[in-house]
Amino acid sequence: MSKPIWAIHGPNLNLLGSREPEIYGRTTLAEIDRGLARHAAGRGHPFASFQSNHEGAIVDRIHAAGQSGVGYILINPGAFTHTSVAIRDAFAAVAVPFVEIHISNVHRRESFRRRSYLSDLAEGVITGLGTQGYRLALEFAIDRLEGVDWPGAAGLEQA
Ligand code: DQA
Repeated sequence: MSKPIWAIHGPNLNLLGSREPEIYGRTTLAEIDRGLARHAAGRGHPFASFQSNHEGAIVDRIHAAGQSGVGYILINPGAFTHTSVAIRDAFAAVAVPFVEIHISNVHRRESFRRRSYLSDLAEGVITGLGTQGYRLALEFAIDRLEGVDWPGAAGLEQA
């Protein structure tokens, strides 16, 4: 049975499409989720998406992923990236592998965005590739879940 993949979108990402389009583009969250759902279905994986502006709700969702046998989480934690010990602790508690995604290149912006409470627990981080980062993260997660190899990947210290 193919394991489910969940996307978790943090605060203000419900406003994608109209929020600071010069930084985040014009694609809406609904469009991103539709693309992810279609792509996951094409590769035979159940997919669900969740967005919240509330830290505790995101913590609850990560716990639920741990209890539901979710195989991978794709998370854009938004501003909680830079502040949330609670979300970090939730990931440490459930041990569901995850990819951290940022639409913008956080290293090119204000210095406070360079610090992440999650990156060292993540399997990997995608930042600055726009909304395409979500698709690439999904592709990676499915490959990992299916044991699809990529030349040289087997030798890396990971997983
Ligand atoms: C973001 C970057 C964060 O610094 C910011 O707070 C966001 C979005 C991104 O996708 O580029 O809300 O995670």
